[in-house]
Amino acid sequence: MSRAFLCAVCLLVLATAAASVSPPQAETEAERQARMKWWTEARFGMFIHWGLYALPARHEWVRSRERMSDEAYAKYFAHFDPDLYDPHEWARAARLAGMKYFVVTTKHHEGFCLWDSKLTDYKATRTPCGKDLIKPLVEAMRAEGLRVGFYHSLLDWHHPDYTIDVYHPMRDDKAFIEKAKTRDLDKYVDYLFAQLKELLTEFGRIDTLFLDFSFPGPKGKGRNEWKSERLLKMIRELQPGIIVNDRLDLLDVPGGWDFRTPEQFMPREWVSVDGRPVPWETCQTFSGSWGYDRDEPTWKSVPQLVAMLIETVSKGGNLLLNVGPTGRGTFDARAVDRLQGIGAWMEKNGRSIYGCTQAPADLPRPANCLLTYNPGTERLYVHVLEWPLGILALDGFAGRVEYAQLLHDASEVAFTEKGGEAGFMPGSRGKEAGNTLTLRLPVRKPDVEVPVIELFLKRR
Ligand code: GLC
Repeated sequence: MSRAFLCAVCLLVLATAAASVSPPQAETEAERQARMKWWTEARFGMFIHWGLYALPARHEWVRSRERMSDEAYAKYFAHFDPDLYDPHEWARAARLAGMKYFVVTTKHHEGFCLWDSKLTDYKATRTPCGKDLIKPLVEAMRAEGLRVGFYHSLLDWHHPDYTIDVYHPMRDDKAFIEKAKTRDLDKYVDYLFAQLKELLTEFGRIDTLFLDFSFPGPKGKGRNEWKSERLLKMIRELQPGIIVNDRLDLLDVPGGWDFRTPEQFMPREWVSVDGRPVPWETCQTFSGSWGYDRDEPTWKSVPQLVAMLIETVSKGGNLLLNVGPTGRGTFDARAVDRLQGIGAWMEKNGRSIYGCTQAPADLPRPANCLLTYNPGTERLYVHVLEWPLGILALDGFAGRVEYAQLLHDASEVAFTEKGGEAGFMPGSRGKEAGNTLTLRLPVRKPDVEVPVIELFLKRR
């Protein structure tokens, strides 16, 4: 056989293999938008990080940070007993905060499983807890009207075939590394596939999946190690409507992800890929930790969190806000306080969040304000972060507004435009510039965290 012929055969084999593993994405743009519609309109979800790390209560990475061995970490498994766990209470808290979906850690990097997986004994049912924690949560959340999401860790610091990498807790232990040389990552990856199959077949419809994470390169793991394309193909076959995040290391593969996931920071503008704005969801913590962290002091305030939600939507994104429940199975007082504070604001102002997105480019943002826009109702929302004295001038808005009101109590906001009087106090009178619309506001800031002015735009 000639070498050229052999090469051609090899190429053919490679090409078929590549084609058969790529994710099924014969979807049109309109179909993709329809699949993601509920998610785009929901805008606000609850992330839940729960696992054995709730007991040390000093960050979910504690095992890796402190280089803890399996034996050292075993005490948390032996004492895991969330006796106050009431999933209905969690679901209610999420709904009252205004959240429309939730994403719970089925397994975090520590490898501990919250559901009753048939593939391991490293699970909640084998601890003093003795219960599957995921099934009742899924049911309770659905009963409160929330969509269901699973977070699943690609990493696994407990599995006997998971190879030692830059993040592994035993990465500095030479004797351990030597012994671990016989580990077979493929066996772990089979386990990963099989566990995801359980999760995607035993809990009904799963709306969104958050896989975490890839770190390709020397001593790392990425698409080749996880067999990401095959994994994603399986996921989409098992749950055709599912919305999947972007951490499988398939950013350059068509259909390899549904949304980007900026974590713990606020993007400066609508997140884009190759110059195109894309769906995105930022995940954020109340404090600096995802897992319950007793002594973490940097908790964000309610006004900060409300502003974070508004800013996210004003840039076309979703906010997934995290709660780290305690080892007793409760949301701690600080989390309850923040959820209630956001909920109080959302109850009256949710209309400026749900179904909303970035404002049209020809309506510029006034100083100290954030804008959102509902393209269906053609209403624009002005979120006033710093309450001004008596008037708010909106340059570029003249001729565009039919009616204005404060959102929380539907009280009319009077306005003048195009040559009206800009000021109402002696000495500050002056004619407006041609394109300015001036809102006349009460001097006293309304009693809501961030007041919102709802502008009914003229239909064009
Ligand atoms: C990170 C961390 C992790 C957390 C996650 C949330 O990748 O590894 O602890 O679960 O981000 O997005």
